[in-house]
Amino acid sequence: MYLGLDLGTSALKALISNDLGNVVASASASYDISYVDNNGTEQNPSVWLDALDEVLRELKGYLGEVKALAISGQMHGLVILDKEDKVIRPCILWNDNRTIEENDELNQNKEKIYNLTNNISYAGFTLPKLKWLAKHEKDNFNKISKIMLPKDYLVYYLTGKFVSDYTDMAGSLLLDVKNRCYSKEMLEIANIKINQLPRLLESYEVVGIVKDDIALKYAFNKTKIIAGGADNALAALGTNTLEEGTCNISLGTSGTILIPVKEAKQLSSYGLHVFSHIQGTYIMGCILSAASCRKWFLEDVLKTTNYLENETEMLHADAKELYFLPYLQGERSPHNDPLAKGAFIGLSATTSRGDMSKAILEGVSFALRDCLEIVRQEGIGINNLTVCGGGSKSKLWCQILADVFNLEVKTLVNEQGPAYGAIILAMIGDKKITFAGVKTLVKYGDVYKPQNINYYNIKYQYYKKLYPTLKKIFS
Ligand code: XUL
Repeated sequence: MYLGLDLGTSALKALISNDLGNVVASASASYDISYVDNNGTEQNPSVWLDALDEVLRELKGYLGEVKALAISGQMHGLVILDKEDKVIRPCILWNDNRTIEENDELNQNKEKIYNLTNNISYAGFTLPKLKWLAKHEKDNFNKISKIMLPKDYLVYYLTGKFVSDYTDMAGSLLLDVKNRCYSKEMLEIANIKINQLPRLLESYEVVGIVKDDIALKYAFNKTKIIAGGADNALAALGTNTLEEGTCNISLGTSGTILIPVKEAKQLSSYGLHVFSHIQGTYIMGCILSAASCRKWFLEDVLKTTNYLENETEMLHADAKELYFLPYLQGERSPHNDPLAKGAFIGLSATTSRGDMSKAILEGVSFALRDCLEIVRQEGIGINNLTVCGGGSKSKLWCQILADVFNLEVKTLVNEQGPAYGAIILAMIGDKKITFAGVKTLVKYGDVYKPQNINYYNIKYQYYKKLYPTLKKIFS
């Protein structure tokens, strides 16, 4: 058996498969984001350990047979430990926007940073967080003995090994993506030493065996821990998005559009990330709020968790002149504007809950299309598009995506892309399968063909004008 864990932003999800890669059990434990001053988002790593404990207890009956486990993790988070291995402060998350000043300073040397890392700086990346810490929490900065990304903290807890992998470290702005190594110059800019950083492994390499005390507690039996990877890279693995021409969209707390490319090429604009894939590289656009916009509207504003009822409400919606900007947490790709805000535009006295809900699905899809437009400008073709993540459970959303992108959209039988990717990675790490075997494991579900192409092309042209018009108000 194999275990895939996905350390997400709102929950830790676990899937167990048999030796053929068929999922036989699952568990999940949720936790909250702490919103702090200055646009900050944090999570104490202890809540991840509590969630890990909860899912491992639930799955304990299977764990004795688990040969290998791998972890997929939310990217960019800064976890820091002192020399006694104590967590110094809560993790600063990927959607934290407190680093506006540090980020702007770094981007004054955009070209240099891009040449070194294949990326410019974004507020959520790890390096600007380190610079913020050096300025605002100098004592904490001076205490740093180990710098980790979120999933590396769990790997450290399970094995005692201080390691990371290329896919996750690519989002730190400390990695030379092209040459798959730390960038000496970027470490200097961050004012950190290489021994404060984890040793880098390929995502599928074996880190070690679960530590004895943990094995005893959960009945693991010499289970191997595989290095693991960034949630987006593992979602790509879990949806077989490994070759040029394929593309995966993930509708989770964030929304991403990811396209593998063989080499870390320099793009003609700075709007998208170029990160290390499990093999090769990928380009990606990331919007900071996707399925989280729908969750916010339903659960926080309307105080309901009845997604099914909402799906029916939307079928009767007529939201022709209603628009939603999904920038609830600022925006990453392509605008790179931490100050951007969410908005409904075009409300009237007859606007219904269904109209507003549908406008949210459309707004998120349009924001992803903003990223797709840049992909198209780069001359990159897409001939196989999958969608995963919680948002992909909505049939209407999948149809809207097909219409807005004018591409056929395939769903997966198992929408948990990153956790399933972690299972596949564990199987590869355990040498049960090779990369060539991945396609036989991934099972597709419903397929959505583009229908309302003109309608959404016209609507998108209006949508595109909204952010530039409102930008001044946001700032
Ligand atoms: C990617 C990003 C998000 C997080 C969410 O750059 O910031 O997709 O990985 O988990």
